[in-house]
Amino acid sequence: MSATERPALRFDILTLFPDVFGPFLDSSILGIARQKGLVSYHLHDIRDYSLDKHRKVDDRPYGGGPGMVMQCEPVFRCCEAVRQMAEPAGRLLLLTPQGRRFDQALARELSGEQRIVLLCGRYEGFDERIRLGLPAEEISVGDYVLSGGEPAAVVITDAVVRLVPGVLGHGESARSDSFADGLLEYAHYTRPPEFRGMRVPDVLLSGDHAAIARWRRDEARRRTRERRSDLLEEDDTTPETQHG
Ligand code: ADE
Repeated sequence: MSATERPALRFDILTLFPDVFGPFLDSSILGIARQKGLVSYHLHDIRDYSLDKHRKVDDRPYGGGPGMVMQCEPVFRCCEAVRQMAEPAGRLLLLTPQGRRFDQALARELSGEQRIVLLCGRYEGFDERIRLGLPAEEISVGDYVLSGGEPAAVVITDAVVRLVPGVLGHGESARSDSFADGLLEYAHYTRPPEFRGMRVPDVLLSGDHAAIARWRRDEARRRTRERRSDLLEEDDTTPETQHG
């Protein structure tokens, strides 16, 4: 299916802070993708689904301890209502540091979906029954603790949207990105050819496209070996000069 025939990838973001997303979703690639009709973003305030007269969504943990825990009722009500707003119900991702680690492979997989529902937590975390009772995949954006899932939702949305066919103007850009082929990306240079004594490698000025492609491949592998040898260990089947 071509980029134009494909239905827009729909994102629903469930959060206590819908206002923080505006600038991210409006600007740059994410904004352009929406303008092109390739994606749509829908923000939902979990507080709107609280049955409490003060719109409370959290409470103290049973058994004591610090912080507050997000309650089941508003989260279940919000998730259920949002999932019914459109077809299909979509992939429901619960954002938590305890989840499966988000990576480029998962971003690629998600870019082929029709709908992604992102559930952002706050405070000490979710009542365990949210995890148990909702058909959610738990996803983490890294081994550190954020104050809430909102930055994680922005990270995931950004990484996925740029892979949706038709979003990036230049067809090559996403293909040569770091991780696209399991390697870090090669170095880029633009004018001038020399800046403060640092010269652009001669090969890039040579006009020899085969030599440039070779240099970039080797550079990508060299960088990956230097900085992220763990990536090569995962997929070390091709020697440098044959890699392509
Ligand atoms: N919420 C808090 N920390 C997080 C993380 N590392 N990934 C996803 N959601 C989170």
